[in-house]
Amino acid sequence: MNSEKKRIILGIETSCDETSAALFVPGKGIIAQTLFSQIETHKPFGGVLPEVASRGQLERIKGIVEECIRAASLSIDDITTVAVTHKPGLPGSLLVGVCFAKAFAWASGKELIGIDHLEGHAFSAFIEHSIPFPHLCITASGGHTSMYYIQGFGNYQTIASTIDDAAGEAFDKISKVLGLGYPGGPIIEKYARDNNFADVFSYPRPCKDTMTFSFSGLKTAILYDLVKRGAYDLATRTLLDHSEQLKRDVASSLLVCIGDIFEHKVKLAYSQYPEAQALSFVGGVACNKYLKERLKTWCDRRKLKFFTPSPRYCTDNASMIAFVGNYKAEQGLFSSFDLDILR
Ligand code: KG4
Ligand code: ZN
Repeated sequence: MNSEKKRIILGIETSCDETSAALFVPGKGIIAQTLFSQIETHKPFGGVLPEVASRGQLERIKGIVEECIRAASLSIDDITTVAVTHKPGLPGSLLVGVCFAKAFAWASGKELIGIDHLEGHAFSAFIEHSIPFPHLCITASGGHTSMYYIQGFGNYQTIASTIDDAAGEAFDKISKVLGLGYPGGPIIEKYARDNNFADVFSYPRPCKDTMTFSFSGLKTAILYDLVKRGAYDLATRTLLDHSEQLKRDVASSLLVCIGDIFEHKVKLAYSQYPEAQALSFVGGVACNKYLKERLKTWCDRRKLKFFTPSPRYCTDNASMIAFVGNYKAEQGLFSSFDLDILR
């Protein structure tokens, strides 16, 4: 990059079913973000269909990037650096973003940086807040649930991760079982709120005293509890009891259970990292007001700062990719044009 030229980073995110572009200017922050979500396409299937997702990415990527540059009143020449998610995610979807970013950067002489999607989430709260180091971060989405000990930009270690499913997947699957639709998180939250967050069924809280998450057993426990109550037929995979009260009871019991699991894990992590000065809660599941409130209350009691991004930066977005791209560029961590996807 020409040393006279002010760095402007174009972030590109296509790891799953969102196509997003964003522009980051040092000193100003995010100046534009565009995003197209395929949620409506995947809704009838109760989850993301990978082949359909990658085709959707291909149809949208060019328009989303152009729209973002236009929204910021910039031209292609103003951009110095392209930061793109290259792992982890759906291979076909990732390929669209990485191929587009490489072609764009190569053809117009830009720097290229491959970004880890999870690092994007882990630093997403910085888009709107200044968070002291060291701090703990809990990342919960449809594909991942982890905790990090963060000591600086790009300097973090995973201190807990899931051994099977992610928290978001538990919401999505149980919502599907109850016939409530996709994505499950917001619907489960609504039903749980209507039930005053009552813990009716006391589902099991697994891995209580270890730094591991597990949500697969919880999904099975809920399913078998429904079978036991005569509300679900395993052989035909159909819900037999369609009462709204049962849905509310399952939803609120599930949400309170996940709230307990998160709170317990944060407590355990703080006992191991007492010097941590704050907690951030990020990823799609961090849109959940009940979970945010519980974690904030826990932090308030201990005089710890609590941070969470606005919902638009919790779910998949390119702003977090552009933000990480900026500090990677400052650290000189560029990628070659051999950049490839990693699952
Ligand atoms: O971060 P994200 O957009 O995509 C992944 O990287 O997976 O997260 C999507 C996940 C879905 O599982 C969705 O059900 C969940 O975030 N989610 C929520 C809420 N809004 C979205 N989970 C709980 N409560 C919500 N309000
Ligand atoms: Zn994500």
